[in-house]
Amino acid sequence: MSKLNREQTITYDKQYNQHPWLTGNVDPIPIEKANGIYFYDFNGKKYFDMSSQLSCVNIGYGNEDVIKAVQEQVEILPYIAPAYASAPRSELAKLLVDLAPDNIAKVFFTCGGSDANEAAIQMARTFTGRSKIFSRYRSYHGSTLGSGNLSGDPRRFALENPSATGFVKFKDPYVYRSCLSFETDQEAAKYYLQKIEEQLAYEGPENVAAIFVESITGANGVIIPPDGYLQGLRKICDKYQILMVCDEVMAGFGRTGKMFAFENWDVKPDIITFAKGVTSGYVALGGIMVSKEIADYYKEHVFQYGLTYSGHSLACAAGVACVQYYKKAHLLENTKKVGKVLGEILEELKVKHACVGDVRYIGLFAAVEFVKDKKTKEPLVPYADHSGIMGKIIGLLKERGFATFGRENNINIAPPLIITEKELREAMKIFDEVLEIVDKEFL
Ligand SMILES: Cc1ncc(COP(=O)(O)O)c(C=O)c1O
Repeated sequence: MSKLNREQTITYDKQYNQHPWLTGNVDPIPIEKANGIYFYDFNGKKYFDMSSQLSCVNIGYGNEDVIKAVQEQVEILPYIAPAYASAPRSELAKLLVDLAPDNIAKVFFTCGGSDANEAAIQMARTFTGRSKIFSRYRSYHGSTLGSGNLSGDPRRFALENPSATGFVKFKDPYVYRSCLSFETDQEAAKYYLQKIEEQLAYEGPENVAAIFVESITGANGVIIPPDGYLQGLRKICDKYQILMVCDEVMAGFGRTGKMFAFENWDVKPDIITFAKGVTSGYVALGGIMVSKEIADYYKEHVFQYGLTYSGHSLACAAGVACVQYYKKAHLLENTKKVGKVLGEILEELKVKHACVGDVRYIGLFAAVEFVKDKKTKEPLVPYADHSGIMGKIIGLLKERGFATFGRENNINIAPPLIITEKELREAMKIFDEVLEIVDKEFL
């Protein structure tokens, strides 16, 4: 354990750490410890972790089962190369295949979500012999070359590279921001699916290896597809023999009240990419789960992809304990129960505050969309804005002990799935207070 004090932590961080997506002039809050749904700075100030960090600490901090599993594993076998078989890697792969839909047969482990999507791109292209990859604008799939180009949000701009070809973007089923008004989910789904099929025709469906979607868009504002959308996407993929890849990196592992978010619509993807909640961030881990057809193909063909830490022993030991904990602690049930309360609170806030245009929620996965004007839906900040207004709102929340993140004109709310109703209500009071300030000072 590091023995640095507060001052050393700040000084060394400023001097030696490059933070992601930020200039070197950042002033991060030095955090000392965490427990349950809270983390604490070196002065003892307590923060509600209302985003589970980057929506990964699903089981909260200080989980004894995971701590013990990692401690025991580090003594027996801390690491073994991927070419060997190891008990934690074998056990976790079996646990995951058992949890997944019945078409899923095998797992390939990575170190996180970006390289999981990278592996899925590589696999889809080799398996189908096709090059084009479809994904959506309001998406984030990672920041390596392939996954960065797969991503649709502005973080992709810096990574767009002439050597990364074949990435085609399509529009999200973002009903709140549609210029059309739909009477039903089915109508909305039909419209967005027609648009995809039209675009496939323009690109030549025989050239398309895979369609990647976040089952529910996460970082870009929890965009929940209308009922019928994912089912229709499955049909389109079947029609043109295109692989359907569901990125469950953020939405998976209980976040929506189901183990995987696509289960809300009863679809079976060909490839599932995952990370974050599989270990709840205790040790870095990601991976892809693939259908029997794909797994069979790779019995005869070499999978041209590899990582030194694929299926790292400590990560897989953490994964086994973590995945078992979801069931042991009835976290899916708690997510549905407390998630219902979160939804009710958000609906009340939408009525009460002029700055709230839309609230979207499912389980403990929610976003609040800020507007200047409820009627016109003019966003509080334009797309890809750098004014820092949303950062100020997030800062006001943090000052009051409510820690979360946002993108564009959205703020995400996704606390650890162990949160109680009482804790949620306490935290959401802070949110209400800050919305009051936004109504008065930011519109
Ligand atoms: C949906 C989704 N996919 C992929 C990633 C990339 O995962 P990682 O940061 O572990 O590389 C993220 C990260 O936030 C994500 O939200």
